[in-house]
Amino acid sequence: MEYITFALGKGRLAKKTLELFEQIGITCEEMKEKDSRKLIFVNEERKLKFFLSKGPDVPTYVEYGAADIGVVGKDTILEEGRRLFEVLDLGFGKCRMCVCGPESAREHLRHHELIRVATKYPNIAKDYFYNKKHQTVEIIKLNGSIELAPIVGLSEVIVDIVETGSTLKENGLVVLEEVCPLSARMVVNQVSMKMENERITKIINDLKRALI
Ligand code: PRP
Repeated sequence: MEYITFALGKGRLAKKTLELFEQIGITCEEMKEKDSRKLIFVNEERKLKFFLSKGPDVPTYVEYGAADIGVVGKDTILEEGRRLFEVLDLGFGKCRMCVCGPESAREHLRHHELIRVATKYPNIAKDYFYNKKHQTVEIIKLNGSIELAPIVGLSEVIVDIVETGSTLKENGLVVLEEVCPLSARMVVNQVSMKMENERITKIINDLKRALI
């Protein structure tokens, strides 16, 4: 039997994913060891391998088949645009992709002005403004703390993730428009889906039952 390999995005999602997998009897004791610098973990009994990578790299590992299955946020799936099957909404990591800014920026949006949009997600921002809203904007790629951009005058608005809304609130910003809802998704390599159909379908169905 071949190994089935899982790529999990590091951080909160990975922890939640492992808790969910435990519910369907998929465990990986090795992964729970704290302070370990190990990158790949094996469940010999069920022939499963797990590794943790940066979230945006998960779709890459899955598209190339270095991982059969990945768990990653919908934001990353949309931004990376990789060829893979999105098979399941895992229901956690719920948040929203939004256009945010100071209340005063609402007018710029309304009049379809040529504004600057700062974001960690240039592809999502481009798709939203160009294809959905038909508004020409200048997109500026940043790598984090996106809320800073309108405060220091880099951009009029941002496209970013809003979860509780507290980062916006503490910085005097508001949600101006919603781009799409987000949550953790399971993705599968297109070839693996055919070659390991039985085992992968069983995992998906077990998860579906656990999620009810
Ligand atoms: C994310 C996001 C927002 C914040 C939203 O940032 O980019 O800044 O969380 O959460 P809230 O609505 O609950 O306040 P993250 O903490 O991942 O770090 P980053 O700013 O470096 O991207």
